[in-house]
Parts: sequence; C-alpha cells; structure tokens
Amino acid sequence: MTDTILTTTPAAGVRQITMNRPERKNALDRASYRGLIDAIAMAEADNAIRAMVLTGADQCFTSGNDIEDFVAVTDSGPRVAMEFLTAISTAKKPIVAAVEGFAVGIGTTMLLHCDLAFAGTGARFRLPFVTMGLCPEGASSYLLPLLAGSKRASELLMLGEAFGPDIAVDAGLINAVTPQGEALARALDKASALAALPPQSVTLTKSLLKRGATEAIAETIATESRHFGERLLSAEAKAAFAAFLKR
Ligand code: COA
Repeated sequence: MTDTILTTTPAAGVRQITMNRPERKNALDRASYRGLIDAIAMAEADNAIRAMVLTGADQCFTSGNDIEDFVAVTDSGPRVAMEFLTAISTAKKPIVAAVEGFAVGIGTTMLLHCDLAFAGTGARFRLPFVTMGLCPEGASSYLLPLLAGSKRASELLMLGEAFGPDIAVDAGLINAVTPQGEALARALDKASALAALPPQSVTLTKSLLKRGATEAIAETIATESRHFGERLLSAEAKAAFAAFLKR
C-alpha cells in the first residue's frame, strides 16, 4: 500500500480511505490510483467492512490527476486511472465521499460513483477537461446530463469554471453542504448508519439502484478513455500542461 493513500477503520464496519499527498493538493499519480484500487478491493473483500468513506488529507479532496503524470504519457493505451474508475463504479459496498477544499477533474467525477457525498461550505469543484485540452472522463459525459440536465452538464463540462457546493447539490453531485470542516464527520456518521443496517439488503439495494445504468457507465468509461488517451498526446493538451507547470 502506498503512503499517498491511507486506510483506517475509524468506526465499526467503516473503512476510511484518505488521499494523502497534501504538498500536491492530493493530486493522484499512478501510485495513488493503484493505492485507491487496492484500498477498495481490500474493503470489498473484508467481511467486517460494510461501508467506505473517501476523503482527502489536509482539508482538500483532490486536485485531480497529477499533471506531471499526464505529461509523462507517451502512448494512448489504457491508464491506471481507468482501472480506478472501473473499481469505484462497480464497488458493491456503499461509498460515502467527504469533500473539503478542491475537488478537480476526477476529484469531481469520482463523486458520480459514490452513493452519498457531503461537502463543506468552502469546497470548490471544477471539471477543467476542455480547458486542459482533454475531454470528459469517469462516465461524466453520460451521468452528469442525467443528474444535472443537459444545459448544466454542458456548462460545467464545456466551460470548466469552478463552482461551489450549492451548485454541486443542484447538479446532483453531493447530497448536502455541511459547515466548513464537518464533511468528514457527516460522512462517517452516514457510513456508520449504513454499516449498522442489514448488509445484504444494503448491497442489494445499491446494485438495484445502479442496475439500469451499469452497461452504459462501463461503455462510456471505455469510450471516454479512448478519446482521453488520444487527447493526452494532443498539441492542445501539451500546451495546457506546460502552461500549468510554468506558472
Ligand atoms: N498535478 C500536479 N501538481 C499539482 C496539481 C496536479 N493536479 N495540483 C496542484 N499541484 C501542485 C502545484 O503545482 C503546487 O506545486 P508547487 O508547490 O511545487 O508550486 C502545489 O501542488 C500546490 O498547488 P497550488 O496550485 O499552489 O495551490 P492553489 O491552492 O493555489 O491551487 C488548485 C489549487 C487545485 C486550484 C490548482 O493547483 C490547480 O488548478 N491544479 C490543477 C488541477 C487540474 O487541472 N487537474 C487536472 C484536471 S484534468
């Protein structure tokens, strides 16, 4: 397990998974994705664990994919980020997200695959895929129009402007806004409530809730990933990465 992903069991039946690279605003590099995949698999396999909480260290969720890792990509083939998206979108046990600070790129799209999500008043969300010369990922091009409506989805995915937790509630990305610094406590509370319920009934209900969209989500993740892999090598993306790293 990498030290950029921490796992703890803060309450009975609850596995907390913390993205922990505060000096990079918890940007997800390849090792971090691998750590997240392993952490989800371990929670899924552990009979004592009934719910997961996903959060970020130091009052920041995550600044998204590590841009230096984007720069290092040399071919458009499968990336570990896609494996992570498959893992989080097909997990059988419930996942509750706790967001403070930044949730950028995949930091926002992963919320589409969490069962519950809470964010503090200071949370800032952003889907800057077009800004970065890329394209949507994480099945966001399918799920966001469904949840938020097509106009809102186009606004968030095409313009890529930052938005706050009230819009995140409206767009169906989170359940509720908490006072700043209290998202994790709320998420742990809800995860504990889920962990206390009959576990087979909880996982059955999750699978029934997801059933109608399962195939479309998998197909969209695969299609977006193909385009995303090509976009990573594009001149538009290379220029955007260079501009970020030169700031
Ligand atoms: N990849 C790599 N490094 C990142 C990063 C990322 N996604 N996000 C932040 N960092 C680094 C910064 O380069 C900076 O490094 P430095 O201390 O060596 O200069 C450090 O983390 C702190 O970030 P900083 O930008 O100074 O913090 P901030 O509070 O001013 O802004 C963000 C935070 C998240 C708004 C800003 O860092 C950002 O926009 N990051 C890129 C997000 C992004 O585009 N992700 C990919 C989407 S597809």
